[in-house]
Amino acid sequence: MGIGKMKKHREMLKRSVLRRHLPETHRFTHARALRMLRTYSTIFIKPNHGSGGSGIIRVKKVRKGYEVRYGLKRTHVGSASLYKAIQSYLRPSGQYLVQRGLRLAKYKGSIFDARIYMQKPKKKWDISGMAARVAAPHRFVTNYHKGGHGVKLKRVLSRLFTKRKKVKSTLRNKKDIPSHG
Ligand SMILES: Nc1ncnc2c1ncn2[C@@H]1O[C@H](COP(=O)(O)OP(=O)(O)O)[C@@H](O)[C@H]1O
Ligand SMILES: [Mg+2]
Repeated sequence: MGIGKMKKHREMLKRSVLRRHLPETHRFTHARALRMLRTYSTIFIKPNHGSGGSGIIRVKKVRKGYEVRYGLKRTHVGSASLYKAIQSYLRPSGQYLVQRGLRLAKYKGSIFDARIYMQKPKKKWDISGMAARVAAPHRFVTNYHKGGHGVKLKRVLSRLFTKRKKVKSTLRNKKDIPSHG
């Protein structure tokens, strides 16, 4: 068993260069999850010792209550049933953390995240690779174990940026249309 996500988070918090990039994270309790849902529209509840994208619950505020996602399951509950819905997915013996949900950008309709792989062959750390990990359709995790796949980061970013350029030029052309009155 590794050192756990909570401990890794605390270690990263000690570094000011990292701190401002870390999403708010706490040891999970129902009260804490509810409190975070007052501030953020989405939270992730994750097993402290999880891996491969397993056991992760996503809760999102929606117009009437909450959307609870677990794997490919999606349920809608009112605030009275949220506790039970979350509880039904928790392993009784497990420790969990609750984290602010980040809205990830998409590549061909699926979310992705960017990874930089570091290695320390001798005394110095080296970047050994960079990749985007693209989730399988309808997944909210990008892990390989859940059908995610790697794509060259450059490819993903250049696609995003051409899109952005397209949006910009469309807007520019619109502006060029003379208005009446
Ligand atoms: N706070 C979050 N906001 C948005 N997506 C998240 C968040 N936490 C995790 N994810 C998604 O779930 C995946 C798995 O989460 P992670 O914390 O890396 O657990 P694991 O150790 O199981 O890989 C991430 O790669 C990312 O795609
Ligand atoms: Mg991971």
